[in-house]
Amino acid sequence: MRHGVRSRMIALVKHDLMYAPPSPRSTTWARTSAALYDPFLWAGERAGMRALRKELLAGARGVTVEIGSGTGLNLRNYPDDLDELVLAEPDRDMRVRLEKRLRDRGRRARLVDAPAERLPFPDRSVDTVVSTLVLCTVDAPELALREIARVLRPDGQFLFLEHVRSNSTTLASWQDRLEGPWRCFARGCRCNRATAELIATCGLVIDEVREASWRAMPTIVRPLIAGRAQIAANHE
Ligand SMILES: C[S@@+](CC[C@H](N)C(=O)[O-])C[C@H]1O[C@@H](n2cnc3c(N)ncnc32)[C@H](O)[C@@H]1O
Repeated sequence: MRHGVRSRMIALVKHDLMYAPPSPRSTTWARTSAALYDPFLWAGERAGMRALRKELLAGARGVTVEIGSGTGLNLRNYPDDLDELVLAEPDRDMRVRLEKRLRDRGRRARLVDAPAERLPFPDRSVDTVVSTLVLCTVDAPELALREIARVLRPDGQFLFLEHVRSNSTTLASWQDRLEGPWRCFARGCRCNRATAELIATCGLVIDEVREASWRAMPTIVRPLIAGRAQIAANHE
């Protein structure tokens, strides 16, 4: 192998091993957006998102890890008979609200401060990983998806409900145009991310997926996908 190619590969591997996104700082905007999160989603939850969450999470089983749990809008939907529920949330202001919701609901769960790109769990130790409205926001979605594939047991499942790039060229071009302002407003959320395509290139195979609409929300974040992926047969 040529020296240049080899050193580029080593640099890439090192980047993967060392990458850890900076912990979001607790700024006034971070605190404000955590406080506004539930009110901002309220209409969308009532208009159908709550039902989509419920349907998705009925399939959770065994040791379940949710990435980017936010304020805990999924909590009410987890089956009671999980072996363990672990909620991973890297944003301090979101975690404060998540802790409160956990206490209020009297639900047992372990809360961890971890980004999806670096999950603090051993290889092949998790039965279900859940991501709802998170892969749009993580800085390095391929790394996050490879982490998900790493921690899942061979018969594990990845349950996702994400807003994605539109299939309509007109809406997709608006998503591209408004990506910058939306990202500033929505704390890093990319409204034009082709998440299903990413899932399929990171050691996972989607075996169930449906399209839906995030009703009562801004048009650029309405296209949704909900489904399940499993470990690809050729994944090491
Ligand atoms: C739009 S909110 C979704 C919250 C929740 N999952 C829901 O369905 O309401 C995005 C969440 O992803 C979290 N997040 C941002 N970057 C992340 C990362 N690198 N890894 C994991 N979560 C991240 C944010 O702190 C925030 O809580």
